[in-house]
Amino acid sequence: ELDKGGMFDLIYKFPDHCIEAVNITKESISGLRFNNIMNVVITGMGGSAIGGDLVRMLTTDRAQIPVIVNRDYKLPAFVDEKTLVVASSYSGNTEETLTAYDYAKTKKAKIIVITTGGKLKEKAAQDEVPVITIPGGLPPRAALGFSLFPILVLFKELGIGFGKKSDIETAVSLLKRVREKYCPQVPEKDNPAKALAGKLHGKLPLIYGTSNLTDIIAVRWKGQMNENAKHPAFYNAFPELNHNEIMGFEGDSKLLKTFEIIILRSPNESDRIKKRIDITTDILKEEVSGITEIWPEGESSLEQMLYHIMFGDYVSAYLAILNNKDPKEIDFIDELKERMK
Ligand code: PA5
Repeated sequence: ELDKGGMFDLIYKFPDHCIEAVNITKESISGLRFNNIMNVVITGMGGSAIGGDLVRMLTTDRAQIPVIVNRDYKLPAFVDEKTLVVASSYSGNTEETLTAYDYAKTKKAKIIVITTGGKLKEKAAQDEVPVITIPGGLPPRAALGFSLFPILVLFKELGIGFGKKSDIETAVSLLKRVREKYCPQVPEKDNPAKALAGKLHGKLPLIYGTSNLTDIIAVRWKGQMNENAKHPAFYNAFPELNHNEIMGFEGDSKLLKTFEIIILRSPNESDRIKKRIDITTDILKEEVSGITEIWPEGESSLEQMLYHIMFGDYVSAYLAILNNKDPKEIDFIDELKERMK
């Protein structure tokens, strides 16, 4: 059974989710005023936090005010009435996000909630806090369009991001081409996502990005391999990994032969970063099982980011098949949430 759990279908729908999320958000926030905001804190966990992180990464070069992604019960001490807190929880029942929401209330921060429902939606209704209500029934990580695009549209309203209709439309058209290229119907010889999953099977992926260009995409790849494929995976980013992680490769050669390095490249890397990647690849190529570079398609950084994400999502779903796992089941996360009650 190829599409165990329907994950391929959900990956295929990613571009449609993006458009739907833009429309829902525009409707939900029309009429809201965002004056006098001095900083933004996006608070959430797991699949709901990553959308915030991706927008923060994408807007690093444009945002004139600090933007922080918070994955905790607490919020930073600077949060006050000039802070916009975006509380994002797909289920609306994640305890860290609910506690952070309460904290934002006590600090009189401006709050916007992104959720499908749950306690978070109830609280927001009581407090008359605006809610962007996204469609339910998906695994949160398969709802990335709905955690990412609302924040992207919000940022445009705040004047710290982008989200021109044409930018988004071009990026979504690219995704629609990409989903055909890597979908299960395309055989492995023509399907680099399938081929990469085959290479990673039985190996430990180390996913490397570059700071503020692809580092958060590497986090997404790692999370998707963990949750969808039940596969251990780790990430790091250039240039930081040149200052510590590289030394681990002087270690146990048998262990190192189980590592598969994936480097998420970007045409926007500086010359110094390019040089670092070249030298690192040269030093490590004999030590590990293999090194694969993934260059994105697309012109804009939004297109390139979405390309990389969809590629990684497909790889994780193919790896789930090879590992004989259902990509939708997340037993340990469920057990943890249950035992924390
Ligand atoms: O992908 C997942 O299922 C998890 O990472 C969840 O996103 C995480 O546990 C937080 O839950 P929620 O997104 O409902 O707030």
